[in-house]
Amino acid sequence: MKRCENMKSSKRPKYRLKSSVVRFLIYALFFVSLTIYGYNGITNAIKEINYRDTYEYKLTSIGYSLEDTTKLISILKPERLEEILKEEKYNELYPNIINQKYFMAKNFEDYVTYKISHAKTSYEDTIAIVNVHADKGWYELDLNSKTEDGYLVLVNKFHHLNKNYKRTDLEDINLAYAYADNKAASIVIENFEQMHDAVLNELNIHLMVNSSYRPYEDQELIYNDYKNVSLKYADQYAARPGYSEHQTGLSLDITSLEHPGQKAFTESAEYEWLKNNAHKYGFILRYPENKDYITGYNTESWHFRYVGKDVATQIYNEKITFDEYYAYYIEK
Ligand code: DAL
Ligand code: ZN
Repeated sequence: MKRCENMKSSKRPKYRLKSSVVRFLIYALFFVSLTIYGYNGITNAIKEINYRDTYEYKLTSIGYSLEDTTKLISILKPERLEEILKEEKYNELYPNIINQKYFMAKNFEDYVTYKISHAKTSYEDTIAIVNVHADKGWYELDLNSKTEDGYLVLVNKFHHLNKNYKRTDLEDINLAYAYADNKAASIVIENFEQMHDAVLNELNIHLMVNSSYRPYEDQELIYNDYKNVSLKYADQYAARPGYSEHQTGLSLDITSLEHPGQKAFTESAEYEWLKNNAHKYGFILRYPENKDYITGYNTESWHFRYVGKDVATQIYNEKITFDEYYAYYIEK
């Protein structure tokens, strides 16, 4: 028994030592954790305070998605973001505009202005109208057509050619394919002939070019003829001199031997065929149906424009006008 007590008392100091070390370690661990936790807590709190000061936090907290917010921040200057924040609530206008396929950052303010004053116009149309400058009145801008764009030169009610502009590769169109006195750029003739032969093979119809290259002076005569009725009438049906695509030598007014009348041609199988196949030969229907608010012209079933196969196919697939294509992919 005694021996036993002795044994116990000889072990105790050893045990006490261990326990104090453990206690020390626990305290140390607790202290270190508290320090780290405290440091992280403070860092996180600072981070949180800083984050609350960002446009990302401010815009997302009034309802804009993170994706839209990131886009808005990359597009707009801080002053404009402040204005959006001053509205104090989510405005569907901005996400609807910036997420349109043909949205261009440089036009942001014009889209907003146009959409606010034309509430019934769709977002898609708003983008198209502003991109092609049709939010301005026709002929209100006086931009020079960039002839260096070659087959992609844009001529419309905002872009005009110089009085003396004339391509150097104009050639007469063979009388098997056109009525007398028709000229066009050689590549246009080449592709029209192939298209003509395809229609002849498939439909047994003879396409004919009615009108093609027109110098400035010829367009002046045509326009003035219409203008004798009224300015409004002239602007509705004819291009002002310098503003006609016919001066480019890249446009063809097409009809057929079988359906020479405008109405008959518009209702014909060959017009339907051209609408669906002309792009394979590099042509587009330049003034499609119901796009007058973009092109400035009522539909012209006869007026086809050469832009090359790739661009014609893209325009056909994307169901856009050449004005829209030019604004988004070339003018930018
Ligand atoms: N007929 C079209 C509008 C033109 O002259 O360009
Ligand atoms: Zn024409």
